[in-house]
Amino acid sequence: MLSLLAGSTPAVASEIVVSVSSAANEIGRKTLAKGGNAVDAAVATGFALAVAWPEAGNIGGGGFMVIRPADGKSPPVVIDYREKAPASATADLFVKQPRSSHLTVGVPGSVAGLALAHERFGKLPWKSLVEPAVQLAREGIVVDAALAGSLNAALRRAKEFPELQRVFGKKEGTWKVGDRLVQPELADTLQRIAELGPAGFYQGKTAELLVEEMRRGGGLITEKDLAAYRAVVRQPLRGSYRGYEILVPPPPSSGGICLIEMLNMLENFDLQKHPRYSAETLHLLTEVMRRAYRDRAAYLGDADFVQIPAHLTTKEYAKKLAQSIDLRRATLSEAIAGEIKLADEKEHTTHYSILDASGLAVSTTTTLEDSFGSKVVVRGAGFLLNNQMTDFNPRPGVTTRTGQIGTEANLIAPGKRMLSSMTPTIVVKDGRAVLITGSPGGRTIINTTLNVLLNVIDFEMPLRQAVDAPRMHHQWFPDRVQLEAATWDKHGEAVAKLEAMGHRLLKVRAQGDAHSIWYNHKMGKYEGVQDYRRAGRPANYRD
Ligand code: DON
Repeated sequence: MLSLLAGSTPAVASEIVVSVSSAANEIGRKTLAKGGNAVDAAVATGFALAVAWPEAGNIGGGGFMVIRPADGKSPPVVIDYREKAPASATADLFVKQPRSSHLTVGVPGSVAGLALAHERFGKLPWKSLVEPAVQLAREGIVVDAALAGSLNAALRRAKEFPELQRVFGKKEGTWKVGDRLVQPELADTLQRIAELGPAGFYQGKTAELLVEEMRRGGGLITEKDLAAYRAVVRQPLRGSYRGYEILVPPPPSSGGICLIEMLNMLENFDLQKHPRYSAETLHLLTEVMRRAYRDRAAYLGDADFVQIPAHLTTKEYAKKLAQSIDLRRATLSEAIAGEIKLADEKEHTTHYSILDASGLAVSTTTTLEDSFGSKVVVRGAGFLLNNQMTDFNPRPGVTTRTGQIGTEANLIAPGKRMLSSMTPTIVVKDGRAVLITGSPGGRTIINTTLNVLLNVIDFEMPLRQAVDAPRMHHQWFPDRVQLEAATWDKHGEAVAKLEAMGHRLLKVRAQGDAHSIWYNHKMGKYEGVQDYRRAGRPANYRD
């Protein structure tokens, strides 16, 4: 077998599966080895993550999948399986703290989304793609350091969720490397999905258990909401950047529009003029991010419900924004609020990238919103529900300097999809997918994707370096630049200068988790790398 194990040295081959979980990667790779294509592998990997990475892999959440056929003639598509607000939700349903409650659950989209992707592109029988996950849940997954850390943290924090404690708890003590996590009820649920397709989730026993769970905890989702849920095939947004084509999801993700808007602004500058970690470059990226995130707050929401201005992704508009950047001084976020009135007063997802030998490329980000979602496990069905309703703007009209957004476009309405930042991305050059990337991290997702993309395209870093390199983030409000701690360690002078330019800084341990695939032009080969920020650095990895 080809040595494609993400987590060893970078995989060099044209069949690559990179996700946060080695067990899920293995299932994806075996699917390719059995003759499945990249979409089959994405479906199998998606279900495997629901077992192997419960903090974000899911059947009770949602996501976006960008698919680019290898021939370059069939159109690329986005499968939108974002959750929806239940029919009885209203804009004044104020989803307040706690973030973890039955009220915050959106109608899940993942099973419908994976099924739709399979219906359009799959080669292998559906059942054969779900069964490896059934087996993994039934026989148990061997716990590694990342999973042990994730489970132990959830068990510590979610003491008031007895079903979560029962399903993910260990009889005695905390989870250790080498333990086995067995999930028999999840195995039964996955078995129903394997046999019946989406009907095994949205109807029958699974649906009954989910609705019962809602009744028990005061949630809104009904049988009707579940039966009415549909994933949607959408056209990706297409941007261009220095001769590369960018394929990204449209609304209800904000990621595509924001990424294209930022790249369009950056095309007006020569990024190679200054080193990657100079104050000049960090300042420019900050200013570009600030402007795009301001527009995100002002205009973006589910385009089935609100009109989104078309100019946001045009080169002319970006040029005007680029001209408004002062290259020596920070712009105040307040100064660009425009019509948004500011009021006074506040991680978990997973991305995977897949390429098959034909060149078919799949970029998927999926989430429960917070780590372990709402913390609500459907009793008797063994799976976690999302708390995605918290991605809607919580208080109509209340936009704050601390980052809460209250604009019209993303207010709750029945059947509406909440705005996402998920940015699964495929970059194309000379007829082939050259970059498949994306990340978790809430609003930081779009900027993590931007960081990786610029690192390979403008700064010509090898993929391992591009993914490892310190990341940064600015989201308009709060008005501060978030930098990974390593930036201080390695580029202290640039950081000091950035502060002197008028930026407030925030040091964070890590930003995002971008499992990526890149075509290394110099070597004429694809390489795939796992991001070690969440998966943990394997023992055999050497710099
Ligand atoms: O859709 C979104 O943008 C968010 N629900 C994603 C949340 C997230 O990435 C948390 N993870 N680290």
